Amino acid sequence: MSEKLNKAREYERERLATFTEGERPAYHLTPAIGWMNDPNGFGFYGGRFHLFYQYNPYDLQSGPMHWGHAATDDLLRWEHLPCALAPDADADSAGCWSGSAVGLPDGRQLLIYTGVRRDENGGLLQAQCVAFGDGIDYEKAASNPVIGADLLPEGCSKFDFRDPKVWLEEDGSLTCVTVNRVEDGGGAAQLFRSEDGVHWRYDRELDRSRNEYGDMWECPDFFELDGKAVLIVSPMNMCATKTNDFHDGNGCIAIIGRLDENGKMVRDSVLPIDHGISFYAPQTMLAPDGRRIMVAWMHSWEGCGMPFRPTDNPRWNGQMTIPRELRIEGGKLLQAPVRELDALHTDRVSHKLTLSGETELDGVRGRVLDMTVKIKPSEDCKAFSIALASDEQFETAIRFDPASSTLELDRTLSGMCRDYTHIRRCRVDTPAGELKLRILLDRYSVELFVGDGERTLSAALFTPQSADAIRFACDGETELEVEKFGLK
Ligand code: FRU
Repeated sequence: MSEKLNKAREYERERLATFTEGERPAYHLTPAIGWMNDPNGFGFYGGRFHLFYQYNPYDLQSGPMHWGHAATDDLLRWEHLPCALAPDADADSAGCWSGSAVGLPDGRQLLIYTGVRRDENGGLLQAQCVAFGDGIDYEKAASNPVIGADLLPEGCSKFDFRDPKVWLEEDGSLTCVTVNRVEDGGGAAQLFRSEDGVHWRYDRELDRSRNEYGDMWECPDFFELDGKAVLIVSPMNMCATKTNDFHDGNGCIAIIGRLDENGKMVRDSVLPIDHGISFYAPQTMLAPDGRRIMVAWMHSWEGCGMPFRPTDNPRWNGQMTIPRELRIEGGKLLQAPVRELDALHTDRVSHKLTLSGETELDGVRGRVLDMTVKIKPSEDCKAFSIALASDEQFETAIRFDPASSTLELDRTLSGMCRDYTHIRRCRVDTPAGELKLRILLDRYSVELFVGDGERTLSAALFTPQSADAIRFACDGETELEVEKFGLK
């Protein structure tokens, strides 16, 4: 093992044991120690789910990228495993950036990632590297990088070429999709193929941004779901739209369609994936039972500076969303928290009432919970809201405006002490005049699933845990049903 990897493993091992209950979320993955960004290598291997992540153990900010590693049986309770990759080879001396993993027919696990190194002018050269292992220890290929920019068509950038997502074909061969900046300055999704994971050839371009959906793309994923071809990418430098579908900066989109006779993407629609504040670089896996499950970094490059108050003495920065089951129905991309969450339900509380004015409900409070709220506003209802993680000083608000059918998530008063984006909103459907919200709270986050999951809004929260009240308010009148579970 290299000195760099050994050092990272010892560093995290010493600190892992000193974490106290409550210092981390209850069921969302955080880094063993230090900084985390993108999910990497999400997959099923050796009888468990594995999730790697962009990792800088030594700081609360991005730095020399390692791959952190965790595994779980139920996608909710994670076990930290030793750091999987350190930037210890010539091909990745400036970082082991994002990538993916797959179990090979011969029993080994393949990691494929972007190796970054500096050229003589300090530019960051990017190429794809592989490592083979057993679920704990990985050996990098001597021939890394195995997919150099020289394999790309002319005009493609060697400085923006990253984030390979690999999958196994039925015949045991491998395909991966990467992103790359092409001659028009925009991003493109490029496919490569291999028989052994070491020798790769260029296959084709799947789709490109044409500088319409951001410019450079990051973190691609490509799969079939409910009879549709789905390409997920995280575009950089997106421009906000009046429909509120896309916000400025780094975004995440799902391109849904089919492949033409040349294997190029024909788009039916381009959809935003999450309407909240903290969501980037999603990656999916196919579970053994056939579910397509997605997880994302629940943070953002725009708002990832130190979010805790310095006096909180934080030891981690960055967390993953809850893994989400994906479906496509009627052209909509639907997301639901993994069904494994239901098995953690405890202490059911339910209420049914007509609400006008403001109220708290018996047994409905807390910071680790799964709560479903249904409302049916009357004609005279001007506004409905729920204040979460609330006390005299703090709250995170969910607001619904029936007139415009707009839902808003507002963490302005969540205690972040930073002038980041704190409000996002989106239009929602209200079939038969009813709005259904499933709200997941977990100490440092809120995730909102609207209706059947056709909208989600995610936000990292850093409100002191003592702020645990939940208040419902209606200007006018609404029917209100609440079902709340604690989580074991
Ligand atoms: C996306 C990203 C990836 C890159 C990684 C580096 O958040 O910029 O494109 O591989 O993060 O940590």
